[in-house]
Amino acid sequence: MTRPDSLPHSVIKAVLRATQSVATPFWLYETEPMRERVQQLEKFDVIRFAQKANSNIHVLSIFREMGVLVDAVSLGEIERALRAGYTPGTLDQEIVITADIIDESTLIRVIELGIPVNCGSLDMLMQLGQIANNHPVWLRLNPGFGHGHSHKTNTGGPFSKHGIWHENIADALRLVDKYGLNLIGLHMHIGSGADYTHLRQVCGSMLEAVKQLDRPISSISAGGGLPVPSRPGEPEIEIEEYYAAWNETRIEIERIIGDKICLEIEPGRFLTGNAGLLVAEIRAIKKIGDNYFVLLDTGFNELARPILYGSYHEIVFLKRSGVLVTGPLKSIAVAGPLCESGDVFTQNDGGIVRFRELPMPQVGDLAIIRDVGGYGATMSSNYNSRPLAPEILLDDGKLTIIRQRQSIEQLLDLEVRGKAF
Ligand code: LLP
Repeated sequence: MTRPDSLPHSVIKAVLRATQSVATPFWLYETEPMRERVQQLEKFDVIRFAQKANSNIHVLSIFREMGVLVDAVSLGEIERALRAGYTPGTLDQEIVITADIIDESTLIRVIELGIPVNCGSLDMLMQLGQIANNHPVWLRLNPGFGHGHSHKTNTGGPFSKHGIWHENIADALRLVDKYGLNLIGLHMHIGSGADYTHLRQVCGSMLEAVKQLDRPISSISAGGGLPVPSRPGEPEIEIEEYYAAWNETRIEIERIIGDKICLEIEPGRFLTGNAGLLVAEIRAIKKIGDNYFVLLDTGFNELARPILYGSYHEIVFLKRSGVLVTGPLKSIAVAGPLCESGDVFTQNDGGIVRFRELPMPQVGDLAIIRDVGGYGATMSSNYNSRPLAPEILLDDGKLTIIRQRQSIEQLLDLEVRGKAF
């Protein structure tokens, strides 16, 4: 089971060992759940990791060693993929860049490296075509509907900026032909944390789009968006059924095109979400009316998902002795150190603070925030001039620091005053 209902003893022991060498707050990633997730998707021809979920180069290397390919959405993510050992410009497209706009420096780099570009706008297709005939491209289509765990993560339909609108396929093909671009495949990603019904609906749209193309392609991508459980007992998505739906679609497309089609999936949070913890220390406890606020040394500068989407993350309190905090349940909100009322980990979408029934910890105890291996560290900021927290990897019982803590000096060093111009 990729998300055990309670934290395994081995993980608790690793957290304690880590606290002996590294100050809180820090991220801790387990390799085992990441590997399990890859295995769950092995029927897909290509698993392409959407590294925006967790782009630490050592995490990328783990996936590379397992044969997982990678998606980048920026020049920075391309450079990360290269550092992790991915080879650009190969036939099997180890690195693809997906975007709705492409800036000049990224354009130059993808052409230099021969990295296929998954185009989410007609302008982007044109800008690429104008300088790089024959460049390999995908079309990222907006099928006209979308779904996500929040409005902010819905990437399809008329209110989304993403993808080439499904009615503009003919315009996209005109640009492909005009510039002699090499069309590899079609891609659809309707949102993050979509449900099974919506995810399945994409199959039909993909089939329709291929019919409209009326020309051969070699690949299709189902995008990402697979939900992951974050509460005890929450069901996992039925991968077998999901794969079966896509495989049927692929077979139908192969029949239409008369050639083999490679079926890709592009998950982010599914591969890393359940594999990450954020470990913090409780620095203050306040009674406010009938409720309590437990304040940690980390806030939305580290983990932004609760303030952005009202995402639920289970929080476990641990004594420094390694014993879980128990006792009568109190009505507790868990919050951070930032000078902003929204800096609360226990909140609904819309910013309403939610008190949880939790056992009362003490100042100095640890707080472990679960399921933060996806869009945790990658969405951190330096708000309130707090340096980025270190990242630690737990692999086969061994702990390794895979990102150092940023220093305040490093933060301030960027602010060198330039010459007036
Ligand atoms: N492919 C494309 C083109 C995407 O835009 C995304 C996510 C993915 C794949 C991977 O989606 P996933 O499998 O991780 O759901 N920060 C939000 C998620 C935003 C995702 C943006 N694009 C969160 O914390 O839930």
